[in-house]
Amino acid sequence: MPQSVIILLRLLHIMCGAIWFGAVIVMTFYFMPAIGAAGPAGGAVMKQVGDRKYPQFVMAMMGLTILSGLGLMWYASSAFGPVWFRSPMGRTISLGAAIAIVASIYGSVFLRPTVMRMQALGAEMAGGAPNPAQATEMKTLQSKVTTATRLVAILMILAVAAMAGARYM
Ligand code: HEM
Repeated sequence: MPQSVIILLRLLHIMCGAIWFGAVIVMTFYFMPAIGAAGPAGGAVMKQVGDRKYPQFVMAMMGLTILSGLGLMWYASSAFGPVWFRSPMGRTISLGAAIAIVASIYGSVFLRPTVMRMQALGAEMAGGAPNPAQATEMKTLQSKVTTATRLVAILMILAVAAMAGARYM
């Protein structure tokens, strides 16, 4: 593979990975607590965030990080040969990659539908006071999303630590 392609893949990988990681950290520790504290107004904010395609943007960053990471892995391991995977760096990167992929699957299968439901409910509630059933559902969804984003954030902190430290193993 030409050197320029590797440099581009690394650039794509690190930039998209940084955006994906940052998006999860901001959502977990700032965005969700703020939406929870805002009460019914939080639903309207969720709708606006959905209209701006934030979940799709984060998913795109996640997909590009994984694809570019697999490309880098293919190159580093000489087409997925076993020698690199047995090296300390190969093992550490693979561990980080596996953790990031688990985070991405959990985020796509569990977190995304819950966030989408929050956005739809936010749209239903827009412009008026929520009825008791809507208020209860929103609270349940918020607590589910808070727990799920915390889990994804912890997994991603571990994945990034493995990526960043791998070459010093
Ligand atoms: C949040 C997700 C991720 C972030 C922030 C991230 C970040 C990074 C960074 C900063 C490096 C450079 C390490 C160095 O040169 O010392 C790196 C390398 C690497 N990453 Fe990731 N990564 C992520 C996920 C993944 C995934 C999911 C895969 C594979 C499927 C992967 C595969 C690789 C590989 C193979 C390298 C080594 C590249 C080389 O030898 O130059 N990464 N990653």
